[in-house]
Amino acid sequence: MAVRNRRAQASTRRSAKRAAPSKRSPDRRSTGLRQPKSRRPMAKQIFRKRRQALEAPIIDLKGLHKTYGETGVPVHALAGVSLKVPRGEMLAVMGPSGSGKTSLLNMIGLLDTPDRGSVMVGGQDPSQIKRRKLPAFRQRQIGLVFQQKNLIPTLTALENVYLPFRYTSGAKSVKREQAEEGLRLVGMFERANHRPSQLSGGEQQRVAIARALVNSPAMVLADEPTGELDSKTGHSIVKLMQNLNAKLGQTFVLVTHNEAVAAECHRIVRMQDGKIVSEHRPRKRRAA
Ligand SMILES: Nc1ncnc2c1ncn2[C@@H]1O[C@H](COP(=O)(O)OP(=O)(O)OP(=O)(O)O)[C@@H](O)[C@H]1O
Ligand SMILES: [Mg+2]
Repeated sequence: MAVRNRRAQASTRRSAKRAAPSKRSPDRRSTGLRQPKSRRPMAKQIFRKRRQALEAPIIDLKGLHKTYGETGVPVHALAGVSLKVPRGEMLAVMGPSGSGKTSLLNMIGLLDTPDRGSVMVGGQDPSQIKRRKLPAFRQRQIGLVFQQKNLIPTLTALENVYLPFRYTSGAKSVKREQAEEGLRLVGMFERANHRPSQLSGGEQQRVAIARALVNSPAMVLADEPTGELDSKTGHSIVKLMQNLNAKLGQTFVLVTHNEAVAAECHRIVRMQDGKIVSEHRPRKRRAA
């Protein structure tokens, strides 16, 4: 019995010793000192963050407000816009002139910042990204296509598509191959050495799309990409985007005034006076 008691006492002393913080090695967690490598949860955290970013909607806007003309008459370009776009969706944004479509696209494309509200792109808050990392983030996430195509007139089609690569690292030969592949995707490889003035409007827009896609961004934002084209050419451009959306899984946000173009998308949202006033899925394409 006595032996058992002594053993119990010794065991109590040992566990008390274990529980008491040692004077020589203070509790690392409470002192904020680095934990030993094996216990560092950094890798797990990074993995979890990446997974969350991939599962999050590619675009998540909450309560966006933007007012222009602080000095003159204020114009409420965005008056409380909230919108979620899942990855791989092809979304059309419609609405009368001045309803805020371009302003909205500028917010998503990080070309402008809202006065109020939050913009999340690819599961990340761009305002929290360090300035020097922002260009790379933009390139990974966003490709832009405008109504005016914005091609450089002195450069060939291939050189125009190559432009986004100018400031990125990597072997030139690989980047050139990627630019050529971009032209192939839009059916313009044969015209690689032609300048914009030697191409039709639709062909120029194809080159502009190739340029937007060349970095394989997660989404392509297009502001009236068919606005300057006749309806047949415009339709072929939308079909091209549709094919790319199906083939590459990229998200497309398309501002358009054209009902036939919008009907090719998975979802249509309509804007008025800086707000989204309705949304629906066209009968033609229900699934995203
Ligand atoms: N930089 C700016 N300064 C002042 N007002 C602006 C600015 N940008 C846009 N606006 C105003 O904000 C409102 C929304 O403009 P926005 O360009 O977003 O419209 P939109 O829907 O794209 O029109 P459209 O179909 O004609 O292109 C308009 O009244 C416009 O005049
Ligand atoms: Mg516009």
